Amino acid sequence: MPFRSLISRILLILHSLANGMLIKDLEFVKFISKSKVQAQVKLLAEQINADYQSKEPVFLPILNGSFMFAADLMKHIEVPNKISFVKVSSYSGAASTGQLKTLIGLELSLFNQDVIIVEDIVDTGLTLQKIVNELKELGTRSVEVISLLRKPPAREKGIEVKYVGFDIDNDFVLGYGLDYDGHGRNFTDIYRVKSPNSENAGL
Ligand code: IMP
Repeated sequence: MPFRSLISRILLILHSLANGMLIKDLEFVKFISKSKVQAQVKLLAEQINADYQSKEPVFLPILNGSFMFAADLMKHIEVPNKISFVKVSSYSGAASTGQLKTLIGLELSLFNQDVIIVEDIVDTGLTLQKIVNELKELGTRSVEVISLLRKPPAREKGIEVKYVGFDIDNDFVLGYGLDYDGHGRNFTDIYRVKSPNSENAGL
């Protein structure tokens, strides 16, 4: 590595250590620690265990964002269950506007099933609402949503999310499955973009 690149790499690392973490062009600060995330995930699983005592729910984690949350959540689920990872995609027809989203990758029949959609974060909740309606049309017995994070637009619009890990502000967050332009999904803590008002504000 050329000397100048090495120096700028070292300066970047020192800067990140002192001020937060630089991902591409954005600086992030730690927001929710791994231990708080894990405690909350366990609590959510306990609520589901209690609510679904005599049932056999089908969990539908929405990829990519919910892979880590779903994996940790399922470790604490004690009721019989099935799990199928799914994706949300634009319709592939020629007339696609890119706005209409639908569920793909569903491997199980959901007729007469108690479905739990597993989300990483609900922001506007628009896609989620459409997916819930889509699933109800398949003859499901019930459809509920669990989301690790929820932002204000979903709260304000009354988008139904039965199980919420953390209600957060509108800041952009990453880590624990959530990405910034493909980066940061593997972090076990959750970070938020650094703004003048959020320097020390963790949950
Ligand atoms: P919604 O349809 O507006 O609710 O958007 C939800 C999706 O947007 C999530 O599943 C994420 O993929 C993405 N998203 C929303 N807010 C954030 C964020 O702060 N960080 C990373 N991804 C986000």
